[in-house]
Amino acid sequence: MHQIKIIGGVPLKGEIAISGAKNAALPLMTAALLTDEPLILTNMPHLADITSMEALLDQHGVHLSSDLNLKTLTLTARTIHNTTAPYDIVRKMRASILVLGPLVARCGQAQVSLPGGCAIGVRPIDIHLSGLRELGAEIDLLDGYIHAKAPKGLIGATITMPIISVTATENLMMAACLAKGETRLINAAREPEIVDLANCLITMGADIVGAGTDTITIQGKNRLHGGTHRVIPDRIETGTYAMAAAITRGSIHLTNTSLDLIPTASAHLQRAGITLTPTEQGFHVTAPEKDIQGVDVMTEPYPGFATDLQAQMMALMTICRGASLVTETIWENRFMHVPELCRMGANITVHGSSALVRGIDTLRGAPVMATDLRASVCLVLAGLAAEGETLINRVYHLDRGYERVEDKLRGCGARIERIAE
Ligand code: EPZ
Repeated sequence: MHQIKIIGGVPLKGEIAISGAKNAALPLMTAALLTDEPLILTNMPHLADITSMEALLDQHGVHLSSDLNLKTLTLTARTIHNTTAPYDIVRKMRASILVLGPLVARCGQAQVSLPGGCAIGVRPIDIHLSGLRELGAEIDLLDGYIHAKAPKGLIGATITMPIISVTATENLMMAACLAKGETRLINAAREPEIVDLANCLITMGADIVGAGTDTITIQGKNRLHGGTHRVIPDRIETGTYAMAAAITRGSIHLTNTSLDLIPTASAHLQRAGITLTPTEQGFHVTAPEKDIQGVDVMTEPYPGFATDLQAQMMALMTICRGASLVTETIWENRFMHVPELCRMGANITVHGSSALVRGIDTLRGAPVMATDLRASVCLVLAGLAAEGETLINRVYHLDRGYERVEDKLRGCGARIERIAE
């Protein structure tokens, strides 16, 4: 087990290149199951979750070859010899559920372990299942597994999703590409990762209109072909490093990204007094000379403020002038970073789904425990700003979603290192 040690107080200065988006790359990888031809993905991030998805696809029979230098992954699902996604892989990564739609659509059957709960909430998958049922799949839950069958193929339908769900929209959009006739997904998620997946599927021969709006229409095809697709930049990594620059009172240039990917987070940062200046390759982030202002934040589906940036924004608000009310509307248990931030001197009180953050002058370094991916990076941000030493335990969460995080931060002057416990 590793720990991350940070000696805080250094304003970040320099440049950070943003990696390809984890939450775009994972569904894109499962799209390879829809065709027997190669799918080539470029700008792939090198992350633990990507390795888990590779292991899952490999055991389904997908041939994978990657070039880490070129950040390219080629996936070829010429034949699928196993339609079961086993518990051992699914329990490590809930995004494994993304194989369900493509497998049923291509093979007429799939057995996927039920993902179960996780640290940030219960995370049901009822919308994935009811949507597939509306496409004609028979679904049973047996021995902890979803057993889905559609021996005669899926049939297009109009599906109104009761809650906006990112991966359910992705699963159903992929399944509908090989269904007979037209599918309409109503109340679809509008995240940039949905648009990226739709663009890749269109490259593969799919007929999809409306991705990025709340209604997506798909005309099913008999088959899809291979293609090449570049993964979009990671908007959560983008927002995280923008907040890292702000919390350390630094100034950094984020490249291979765009302000357009974080419309609401950038508006909040600007209201807090942070200057964001677009450049050809991305944007500059500069912290104010005076105080950072407290701003209220409420998480919402895209284009609202991303829940995956809530913990990082809260870390920034701990040292703001005044107060900030942070409300989490997506996950019921996503304040686990609060007690850890409080160990570093933060003044935060939680009332149901809202946290009242009263700004203090400085955080103080302390030993803390990472509980999930975004909570971990929130503690890294707090550690970068704190006086003295912060020691973060359980850092494996970080490796799921942040590529070379210590290198990127060290390149901007941070005193951060990974040490063996
Ligand atoms: C995606 O998860 C992301 N994961 C999450 O990122 C992100 O937090 C989340 O979207 C919200 O933006 C990937 O893209 C791989 P949802 P997903 O289905 O799709 C409820 C990270 O840190 N719901 O949009 O699983 C659900 O409980 C991760 O990178 C149902 O009730 O999230 C939640 O309250 C964490 N039934 C809400 O919808 C369902 O069938 C939104 O969840 C599905 C979801």
